[in-house]
Amino acid sequence: MRQKIRNKFQELFASEGSVYTSPGRINLIGEHTDYNGGFVFPGAIDKGMIAEIKKNGTDKVRAFSVDLNDYAEFGLTEADAPKASWAKYIFGVCREIIKRGGEISGFDTAFAGDVPLGAGMSSSAALESTYAFALNDMYSLNIDKFELAKIGQATEHNYCGVNCGIMDQFASIFGKKGSLIRLDCRSLEYKYFPFHPTGYKLVLLDSVVKHELASSAYNKRRISCETVVAAIRRNHPEVEFLRDATMEMLNAVKADVTSEDYMRAEYVIEEIQRVLDVCDALEKDDYETVGKKMYETHHGMSKLYEVSCEELDFLNDVAKKCGVTGSRVMGGGFGGCTINLVKEDKYDAFVKEAFDSYTAKFGHEPKLYNVVISDGARKLK
Ligand code: GLA
Repeated sequence: MRQKIRNKFQELFASEGSVYTSPGRINLIGEHTDYNGGFVFPGAIDKGMIAEIKKNGTDKVRAFSVDLNDYAEFGLTEADAPKASWAKYIFGVCREIIKRGGEISGFDTAFAGDVPLGAGMSSSAALESTYAFALNDMYSLNIDKFELAKIGQATEHNYCGVNCGIMDQFASIFGKKGSLIRLDCRSLEYKYFPFHPTGYKLVLLDSVVKHELASSAYNKRRISCETVVAAIRRNHPEVEFLRDATMEMLNAVKADVTSEDYMRAEYVIEEIQRVLDVCDALEKDDYETVGKKMYETHHGMSKLYEVSCEELDFLNDVAKKCGVTGSRVMGGGFGGCTINLVKEDKYDAFVKEAFDSYTAKFGHEPKLYNVVISDGARKLK
């Protein structure tokens, strides 16, 4: 991949730039909790984006996506935005840096990635973090790592139409080889948890489906949560996020909110607790409890938060039938992957059964990725 980028950069710009990379992420548990001020438990993976980049002495950015074989040229002002949606991620990062007072100029860049698009592994955060990290380094901007993550998140909000939380960009920047990270999305306190589940494998099964309107459905979930918080605040003004709410508080406003909003909030309140339960279980090497919580998350995401789909529910059922310790839809949902915690001696039979039965039912194979927990954003030598 690096050689492909190098060749393209040389061909287009006849020079050599610096090379940066930033990964996608997995999340063991804690889904749709980040924008509710709750906890998440992600880790960076060994798949991500790589970009070669060099200042070009103009006020224009000239960018090439190797994977899409597409070129875009744009400026650094709002009036000079690119049309292509992939280029908006780079443009958004530039704009968010400038809004924070960072002084940058035009540059040339070519990039490619091996984190599958739309699979719930956060290819977009990988792209944002790559450029946020690279520009910070190249222009010696001294932006701290949290602000780099927030620059990526603000890019999603202001240039890509997704009102996401901080998890993906955080994981992509802060990732550490061999460790998952528990992040408190309100205080932004975090703790690395070395994750070496002896006797188990962590494997992703990609349904290879991506549903339309995923971003508007995502934003709608967020509004539901905020609506419930507003209702609870009438009795409990101290509640800032669903993180602060209890099931008792939620039940007290049951008549004031729609049944749909109630279900969404119920899921979030339970999910925030599950992350803490999983952390306790991990400290005791109790993977059975970790797995049980993962199944509970899947059930909640499917029946209460309604961000699963037929294909993902099917993969979850197969996991259950094969005695897989834990399995659930990962990431925002509406397609993408399940994450599975599988005992080594059950792994082969599970993978075979998942491939055979999924292909028989849906007419195409799922994809399999073994998870390797890796470092976050960095410059490559
Ligand atoms: C997407 C968002 C994250 C998070 C997850 C769900 O990946 O980008 O901020 O909300 O969905 O946990």
